[in-house]
Amino acid sequence: MALFDKHAVFEKHSLLLTVGILVVVAIGGIIEIAPLFYMSNTIERVNGMRPYTPLELAGREIYVREGCYVCHSQMVRPLRDEVERYGHYSLAAESMYDHPFQWGSKRTGPDLARVGGKYSDEWHMDHMADPRSVVPESIMPPYEFMVDRPLDYSMISETMAAMRVVGVPYTDAMIENADLDLRAQADPDFYPENVEYDYGLEDRYNEASGREGTVNVRVFDGVPEEVTEMDALIAYLQMLGTLVDFDTYEAGDLQNRR
Ligand code: HEC
Repeated sequence: MALFDKHAVFEKHSLLLTVGILVVVAIGGIIEIAPLFYMSNTIERVNGMRPYTPLELAGREIYVREGCYVCHSQMVRPLRDEVERYGHYSLAAESMYDHPFQWGSKRTGPDLARVGGKYSDEWHMDHMADPRSVVPESIMPPYEFMVDRPLDYSMISETMAAMRVVGVPYTDAMIENADLDLRAQADPDFYPENVEYDYGLEDRYNEASGREGTVNVRVFDGVPEEVTEMDALIAYLQMLGTLVDFDTYEAGDLQNRR
């Protein structure tokens, strides 16, 4: 048949065949991906989301460095069993400032998208240092070395500037005050010597969030003198899933969009 004869053209030219394959495969991709850019629930901005504070961002870097995502997801799917176990299903907007995102693909341990506020800081300290001291059947590895390992935040303002390049709305004031904001979040009595500091940590980040009380300021690891990796990691974990206020959130509600 005349139509099928034409197939010989593709069979004899490998480059043409490759281009043909790309075009055919792209059709499926476009049909799946293109609508996401127009559907309201994938592009919805939700009240409460704000960029991570320098301390939370540093904690997030440790989370990525240690590969916590290999065993933990951060994505509650809209299925009944998951919502009953973890809380409200994850919104697309909740990972809008995650570069790279931490959805994960395997749950050796539970989902962590809503772990913020679930346990006390002390529980996290004990659990991170020795998981089996609080969950005897746990198979999570211990991270005891973080307890007194000083946090290296020499690059934190550069990291924030890099995040800004990829779309996280860090303001100039947030980046300029990064080091001091980081210290101030891990110690409510922090008072820097010989440096000017405007103590605007909470104002800056609550304003970006549009809500009050989104920043936890306290000594996370019980030792105010030094900011350790444990401080940063616990600050990050305690914030996860708490930024959006689900008491007022309604899917598709214009009031919640910004
Ligand atoms: C080898 C897999 C594995 C790795 C890697 C791992 N975890 Fe876990 N994690 C688990 C398991 C299994 C549990 C459930 C038992 C328990 O609570 O210890 C768990 C539980 C947790 C919990 C308690 C969650 C809840 O809702 O009860 C937190 C928080 C946590 N992990 C944080 C971390 C962080 C942070 C890292 C990286 C520094 C990490 N995990 C790395 C396996 C892992």
